[in-house]
Amino acid sequence: MAPETGAQLSEAQIAVHWREERTYRPPAAFVAQANAADPGILERFGEEHFPDCFNEYADLLSWDTRWHTVLDAGNAPFWKWFTGGRLNACYNCVDRHLPTGRNKAALIWVPEPEDQATETITYQELYRRVNEFAALLREFCGLEAGDRVTFHLPMVPELPVAMLACARLGVIHSEVFGGFSGAACGDRIADSASRVLVTVDGYYRGGSLVDHKAKADEAVEAARRNGREIEKVLVWRRHPGRYASRTPMVLGRDFFVDDLLGGYRGRSVPPVSMPAEAPLFLMYTSGTTGRPKGCQHSTGGYLAYAAGTARYHLDIHPEDTYWCAADIGWITGHSYIVYGPLALGTTSVLYEGMPTHPDAGRCWRIAERLGVDIFQTAPTTIRMLRKLGPHEPARYHHRFKLMTTVGEPIEPEVWRWYHDEVGKGQAVIVDTWWMTETGGILGTTLPALQPMKPGSCGPGALGILPVIYDEDGAVVEAGSGRAGNICIRNPWPGVLQTIWGQPERFVDVYYGRYCRDPGSKDWHDWPFLCGDGAVQASDGYFRILGRIDDVINVAGHRLGTKELESAALTVEEVAEAAAVPAVDEVRGRVVEMYVALKPGLSPSPESGQKVTAAIEREIGKLARPAHVWIVPDMPKTRSGKIMRRVIAGISNFADVGDISTLANPEIVDDIRHRVQSAK
Ligand code: PRX
Repeated sequence: MAPETGAQLSEAQIAVHWREERTYRPPAAFVAQANAADPGILERFGEEHFPDCFNEYADLLSWDTRWHTVLDAGNAPFWKWFTGGRLNACYNCVDRHLPTGRNKAALIWVPEPEDQATETITYQELYRRVNEFAALLREFCGLEAGDRVTFHLPMVPELPVAMLACARLGVIHSEVFGGFSGAACGDRIADSASRVLVTVDGYYRGGSLVDHKAKADEAVEAARRNGREIEKVLVWRRHPGRYASRTPMVLGRDFFVDDLLGGYRGRSVPPVSMPAEAPLFLMYTSGTTGRPKGCQHSTGGYLAYAAGTARYHLDIHPEDTYWCAADIGWITGHSYIVYGPLALGTTSVLYEGMPTHPDAGRCWRIAERLGVDIFQTAPTTIRMLRKLGPHEPARYHHRFKLMTTVGEPIEPEVWRWYHDEVGKGQAVIVDTWWMTETGGILGTTLPALQPMKPGSCGPGALGILPVIYDEDGAVVEAGSGRAGNICIRNPWPGVLQTIWGQPERFVDVYYGRYCRDPGSKDWHDWPFLCGDGAVQASDGYFRILGRIDDVINVAGHRLGTKELESAALTVEEVAEAAAVPAVDEVRGRVVEMYVALKPGLSPSPESGQKVTAAIEREIGKLARPAHVWIVPDMPKTRSGKIMRRVIAGISNFADVGDISTLANPEIVDDIRHRVQSAK
């Protein structure tokens, strides 16, 4: 992390920061039914009860063998939770609910187009589908505990079915968000050394059927270039029996799942009893170098943490109809569409398509029709819906008891629209701050016990001890008004176990910065660096300012500047590239690319288009830059480092800071003139 090259804007550079100290209290009706309404819970999860307090989360699960040690710190910072314990995650999310909830909806899938019938999958039906697919994975693909499988699946019920089937076998799943390109998927296949890819032929988005199978072929190619051969591609058909892709099936490699499943009808596969610390899944996320990080999550600790936080912070009861309108391809969907809610035996809604198609009323119609009472989404969606349909929620009779926001900071005025219009003033809001690495929520309120403060996530979640450190490792006191790097002082069950195949990088990225003694086995010496800047008010509430590393958070999705720049550099004429964030009213941040061409080449509109195409090909459409600026040179330090901070300042019409250390300060005015006159 070199501040002079960091992609992020300093607090002084952008004017989006707010100082809101007013608080809101939860409605009495909410408090009366809340899972955590007794203040004693705050005491039970206090620091003096760490780590035993997390037994309460583990006790929400069914174990084959009870653990003997809550936290094993022997190989710090590779924490082991609930050691000695054995369990199966699929059993916990499916089988154990059958005796009392066989006919209850586990998943409700709302497909596109809107006139297509909603599919209700009971716990019994989920059990059937998961078992049949598990039998297929085991017998047709030869997969067993510890193997990895990559999924490149969009929001179809086959995704949770496939996840749970893997979990049943102890196979480690690695879902790549459907919007990522085939090339990005291939990199992740190679990194995880998967030999099976599970995909779908097509899916609906915004009214049209997207050809998805084409990406599988690109993924197989990209994996091959990285030395990994995919043996089997399992293709679900979006409409069973009808192939929706124009891409040919490759003989001997590609198989239609719906055809194969015929041979596994009615099969049941016993859940494999796994050690608590066996990996459950990998979730790749962007880091500061080009190579994505495969965050490895455990079976026991992760599942306990997802279930516990879902129970107390999202207030999920088995009788709720809960809708997290995120994508399962991100950690939010893993923890709070699939694992947390299903472990608690509730009904979890998933939907295909977009919140704004065919109009800004789609979410509220779905919520009204299904009787959704807990709703979760991201600020970018809230901003979009507020802009497109500010009065739309009032037209529907949905009634939420709790709403969540996750993924980015939310502006207080956007928060208030969410509260007043979407929640009709009757729903509590929990602003949940966390990240892919953390498995579950780190900073938020206990909705019945702690007031809401728009724009602040709240204090640490139950059992979580956040702290803000300055650059020298000194504590930044609450109420000081100073920003610093937010860390978590203690380990918790949901924290990633390691970066898949990169243990040194794991220690370095998350613990290297503030570790007091690398030989220590005492958790107090290992603060976890979250990667965000934050300030803490005197009431203990945290306000998150955004990433401190070279990661740009676009509409709640993390993109590494290095990945963007490497993609731009695949264009023949590009000599140098820099990716910076620009403030955007709806998406929070967007990416702007700056590129300098090789000497002697003159800029043309095609150069910019090629850069955009390269980014879409290498990463995916989600990373598409808002602008590609072709510049004669980059502002650089004397040692040749590109000063992204200066470029970000220009993109945002903000102060560029001190440029006296630049080797070529004259370029700043030149770039500023080109960019700002064109905006
Ligand atoms: O900057 C923080 C922001 O999203 C980053 C994590 O992104 P990702 O790993 O994709 O996980 C997103 C879903 C958990 C964080 O480093 N972030 C997440 N939630 C919030 C947030 N920023 C402010 N407020 C939040 N509630």
